[in-house]
Amino acid sequence: MIAAVSSEQALISRYGRARRDEGLAVLEGFHPLKHALRFEATVLEVLCEDRQALEVLCEQLAPDLEQEIMALARQAPRGALAKIAPTRPPTGVISLAERPRVDPLAALADARAAPVVLLDDPRDLGNIGACVRVAAAADAGGVLVSAGHDPWHPDVLRGAAGLHFALPVARLPAGLPARLERPLVALDPDGEPLRAGSLPARALLAFGSERRGLGEELLARADRRVAIPMRAGVSSLNLATSVAVVLFAERLATSG
Ligand SMILES: C[S@@+](CC[C@H](N)C(=O)[O-])C[C@H]1O[C@@H](n2cnc3c(N)ncnc32)[C@H](O)[C@@H]1O
Repeated sequence: MIAAVSSEQALISRYGRARRDEGLAVLEGFHPLKHALRFEATVLEVLCEDRQALEVLCEQLAPDLEQEIMALARQAPRGALAKIAPTRPPTGVISLAERPRVDPLAALADARAAPVVLLDDPRDLGNIGACVRVAAAADAGGVLVSAGHDPWHPDVLRGAAGLHFALPVARLPAGLPARLERPLVALDPDGEPLRAGSLPARALLAFGSERRGLGEELLARADRRVAIPMRAGVSSLNLATSVAVVLFAERLATSG
């Protein structure tokens, strides 16, 4: 009993430190773990409430990863997961992975035609996660965040279902470089209407924050301002929804 309690305390403090450690990624739930492994993360440990239940999840959702996950899995003390995470993941799994070092300037320099998404001071962690998830699904060149939250925060990882490992995700600590070798397209409800397939190759697509929209500096630097046409009376779309519309309007128009 004493051993179980002390190992629970050790886990709580380890995961508390890991949540603030820029070298680690805390993966809450099964889907973040699955995607992390599919996109070649180094997963350090997998804690589960029930090994049999985890085995069933693997069979149902990721048979390709079952052996790897079960080899990493160890049973957490009863009730510990609810104390390790702010909200207990319903799948009963929490994992730790190494966080890759991502150079935002390398993401901007990527030669592929794929766009890169720039989020200008986004405020909502779940929204940032949803942006990363859809950017990964659309095979974008990366997601960069101008200021504010750590885009690798565990709540962002949860919202992204762990798809951070599928593309570069990073903060731009010093803002946009003075010389930008990509066309800068500002997404702004007051811009010219978006036509699918009309965006330039390698665009840097800038989206504003939830409450105040795009900052003046980015608007002034943009080569184009583009709006997603909406029904009269609607002022804007949700941030992640607008990222999804733009990326997939472009992808569907250009993928033949
Ligand atoms: C929730 S909106 C911000 C709303 C803010 N009150 C404003 O006035 O811009 C967050 C971001 O999503 C993008 N967005 C939302 N709806 C859009 C639309 N219809 N056209 C272009 N961008 C849009 C913009 O980049 C915007 O800054």
